[in-house]
Amino acid sequence: MDVLVVGGAGYIGSFMSRLLTERGYNTTVFDNLSLGHRAAVDRKIRLIEGDLSDNRLLKKIFTSTNCDAVMHFAALALVGESVEDPLSYYYNNVSNTVNLLKAMKETGVKYFIFSSSAAVFGNPKEIPIVEAHPQEPINPYGWSKSMVEQILKDACQAYGLRYVSLRYFNAAGAYPDGNMGEDHHNETHLIPLVLKSILGEEAGGKPLKIFGTDYDTPDRTCIRDYIHVLDLAEAHILALEYLVGGGPSQVFNLGNGKGFSVLEVIRTAEKITGRTVPLVKANRRAGDPPVLVAGSEKISQKLGWKPGYAELEAIIETAWKWHSKHPKGYDDS
Ligand SMILES: NC(=O)c1ccc[n+]([C@@H]2O[C@H](COP(=O)([O-])OP(=O)(O)OC[C@H]3O[C@@H](n4cnc5c(N)ncnc54)[C@H](O)[C@@H]3O)[C@@H](O)[C@H]2O)c1
Repeated sequence: MDVLVVGGAGYIGSFMSRLLTERGYNTTVFDNLSLGHRAAVDRKIRLIEGDLSDNRLLKKIFTSTNCDAVMHFAALALVGESVEDPLSYYYNNVSNTVNLLKAMKETGVKYFIFSSSAAVFGNPKEIPIVEAHPQEPINPYGWSKSMVEQILKDACQAYGLRYVSLRYFNAAGAYPDGNMGEDHHNETHLIPLVLKSILGEEAGGKPLKIFGTDYDTPDRTCIRDYIHVLDLAEAHILALEYLVGGGPSQVFNLGNGKGFSVLEVIRTAEKITGRTVPLVKANRRAGDPPVLVAGSEKISQKLGWKPGYAELEAIIETAWKWHSKHPKGYDDS
């Protein structure tokens, strides 16, 4: 079976393409390398450098490979940047996805797996956040994901496209051998920031800012749900098998189902590394809810998914292997 991994040179997409190849899928990566890394794509995997706005190229790829399924990871994904420059977000995350879906429709590609986000929910009314929770995004990034979910619903009804939309919570962790990991140009995710702050200048790390120490949580810092990147990739394989097996389109929330506070992340990182995290206390950021934890019951029941890396320690251990071995990320490999 042939799968196109769009955005497959990025963090999650690179793990996905590796896992697909290991499981015997004929995998091609499509990426414009604007945010991804050539070195993140295994040499055995075909990488096509191109932009999602290029409808002709997409159609050429779909007709020349026997592509059956698309996994779509490509997006801009920084909440603050989306507030400052919403049009770039709607263009890349929404218009370019429409372009991709159009090329699929015109060439008969059947299955689509979409990287959605917990950001579609906005400020949670109930924890854990289940699929039926109201969708009230609070920034253009969240809206762009929510809009694509609506577009998918309509495309499914009109053209018979079958899809699974996976709303990830916080992806984290690295390959257990420490040779593949998270390397965003503009890193905003807590675990890499904590580990880089420990490594210091060599890794471009700065003292870690804790945004808000006055939340209504047990240790007064924000609580988030961290899901290991390999658990995410595994969920995509299950979703693909489900679609190929005839399952109707579905939307799933995808998280560990457990919440960990900023201080718990820091203390766990200190325990694993044996070093101290340099800290700076800062004010709360606008739009940061105190707690975000996924209800992942639906995906467990329907697809049999469960996290292999349920404990924070296991997630941070893999991330530390990557960052300590490659302090400059892929530029270093
Ligand atoms: N990382 C997380 O914690 C998280 C959480 C929720 C949702 N998501 C979603 O998961 C997906 C992957 O996230 P990530 O952290 O791996 O991101 P990433 O930035 O590491 O990867 C995205 C990849 O897409 C490519 N890309 C972007 N626009 C493109 C275009 N127009 N044409 C071709 N390629 C393009 C980039 O070069 C990059 O390689 C995104 O859609 C993101 O919104 C991520």
